[in-house]
Parts: sequence; C-alpha cells; structure tokens
Amino acid sequence: MKSGALVFLAVFIALSASWAGFVLAPQIQLGRELQTPALGDAGLYPQARPGMAAQGAVVYRAEGCVNCHSQQVSQEGVRSQVILTEVSTNAAALLQVLRANGLPLANLETLTKLPIVVTNVPDASSGEPIAKSINATDSKAHVEVSAFGPDIGRHWGQRRSVAQDYLFDHPAQPGSRRMGPDLSNVGLARPDAKWHLLHLYAPASQVNGSTMPPYRFLFETRKIKGKPSADALKFPDGFGPDKDYEVVPTQRALELAAYLVSLKADAPLFEAPVTPPPALVTVVSTNAPVTQ
Ligand code: HEC
Repeated sequence: MKSGALVFLAVFIALSASWAGFVLAPQIQLGRELQTPALGDAGLYPQARPGMAAQGAVVYRAEGCVNCHSQQVSQEGVRSQVILTEVSTNAAALLQVLRANGLPLANLETLTKLPIVVTNVPDASSGEPIAKSINATDSKAHVEVSAFGPDIGRHWGQRRSVAQDYLFDHPAQPGSRRMGPDLSNVGLARPDAKWHLLHLYAPASQVNGSTMPPYRFLFETRKIKGKPSADALKFPDGFGPDKDYEVVPTQRALELAAYLVSLKADAPLFEAPVTPPPALVTVVSTNAPVTQ
C-alpha cells in the first residue's frame, strides 16, 4: 500500500482525538471531584450512601430500573425573588418602604395573601437590601433563589442535577428513558421504605392504575405457620397474597428500598444554588446521623 503511513496516521489521529475528547477531557474536568460544602449550613455534600443503600444500588442496576427511570433533573434557569412572608401590625411602614422602592404591591389588599413575591431581582445580593428594609419595619421578607423548568415543575427536584450528585455512584445511572418518573429525589418525596416494598411487589396497590411491572421475585411468599412474621407486608384489600400466606421481602428487596429512600439530590450548591424551603432543611439535618 502506497499511502499506508498516511492512513495509519489518519486513523491514529482520529482515534486519539476521540479518546482525548471522551476519556481524557472528562477525567481532567471531573476526575478529581471531591465532596463540597453545601450552601447554607447543610454540611458536606454528597454523603456516601449507608451500607444497605449502597447494596441497593447494585440491585437497581441488576434489575434494569434505569430502562424506565432517569436520575437527572434539568432546569431552564434560576430566578431570585424577594418574598414577603409576614406583615406586621405596622403595615403603613411596610407600604412606605415598598413605595420608596418603586414596588407595585403598594396597597393593603395585595398583602393579605402571603407569602407573596415582592419583586424579581437579578441576583440574591441585589435583593438583600430590599429584604432588609422590609424587615426593619417588623414585617418579614427574605430573598429566595429557585430553579425553574419542566422537571422542576413536575416536582422531580429543587434544582438541576450536577456531577457532584453522582460522586459515590459507580457507575452513575442517570438514564435517558422516562417511562416512569425521574427518581433523583424520590427519597424526599417518599421517605418510607415500607411504601417502596409494597410498590415493588404490587405497584397498583400504591399508585392507582400503575403500569410499572411488579417485582414479585424480590419477595418470598410463604405459608403462615403459627404467628404471622413481623416483617410481612401489609397490603390494602385485594392486593395481598392468598389467605394463610404472607409476603416477606428478601434481603435484596430491603436493600433496593433502602437505596430508593436514600435518593436525595437536593443540597444547594455553588454551581446549582437554590434556597431550600424550610421543610427540606429539616430533612437534611435529621438525616445527618445515618451517614456517619
Ligand atoms: C417498564 C418500565 C418500568 C420499569 C422497568 C420500572 N419502573 Fe418504576 N415506574 C414505572 C412507571 C410507569 C411508574 C409510575 C407509576 C407508579 O408510580 O407506579 C413508576 C414509578 C416508580 C416509583 C414511584 C416514583 C414516584 O415518584 O412516585 C418508584 C420508586 C419506582 N418506579 C422504582 C422502580 C424500581 C426500583 C425499578 C426497578 C426494580 C423500577 N421502578 C422499574 C415504570 C417502570
């Protein structure tokens, strides 16, 4: 072959360029990601999953849940707003501040449906002075940073997914098909492992008309001998096993449920800032001991 060297060189360059693009560049960008302090006082993020949940990730992968469920939330953007949450008895002073700032909420009636958005601001720091001057009148306001977009609207998460969210997942399973809902934050929406066990055994027992396939082989159906076992599932009428039988989750089912409960990608981060609503803040703190 006359131009053998040239062909070799062309193939070599093509292959090494794609290796550099698909392997080297992501490694340089993300390979040394570490836990980062979450915004506010939510501690280091992310935390490794507790043992059972880490095992559950293996079951999730083995059962191919990723074929129907994504774990990646997208967002269109972030907005910062000054939110008024409480009006003091001195509403006149509040109205004065609002007027002085040229804000449209300048009559008393609009102040009755709290919380309300006082104004949109370009970023959190430009909203702080407005919130401060409102707070000085004894009414209460704060600046809230929130993400928006279709996924956020479906309550699949507070913010978009970022590389940090997958730090302890090997391999990560962001998925690309959505026959069912995104599961990035299912542990926040459904924190009860029992719910997941019932749902895995008989999805329709928990979600009317569910089309998710049941995963009965993760459970053992056995004849009740003497007393029913303590960890037998309690089904709503019409979904349980035959009389005299009970359904007990296997270790794999328990692990999978623990994994689902552990799915929470909600910490506000520098690259994905949000002001978590008060309810989420409590969830973060009550969870801390689990991840020691
Ligand atoms: C054939 C597609 C399909 C597969 C495979 C599948 N699911 Fe689902 N899943 C769905 C659908 C559809 C729903 C919505 C209806 C419902 O909630 O039952 C759903 C709902 C869920 C929910 C409730 C989510 C919520 O926000 O309410 C969880 C949790 C869940 N699936 C976990 C799993 C796990 C774990 C596996 C693997 C063992 C799995 N799914 C496999 C289709 C699927």
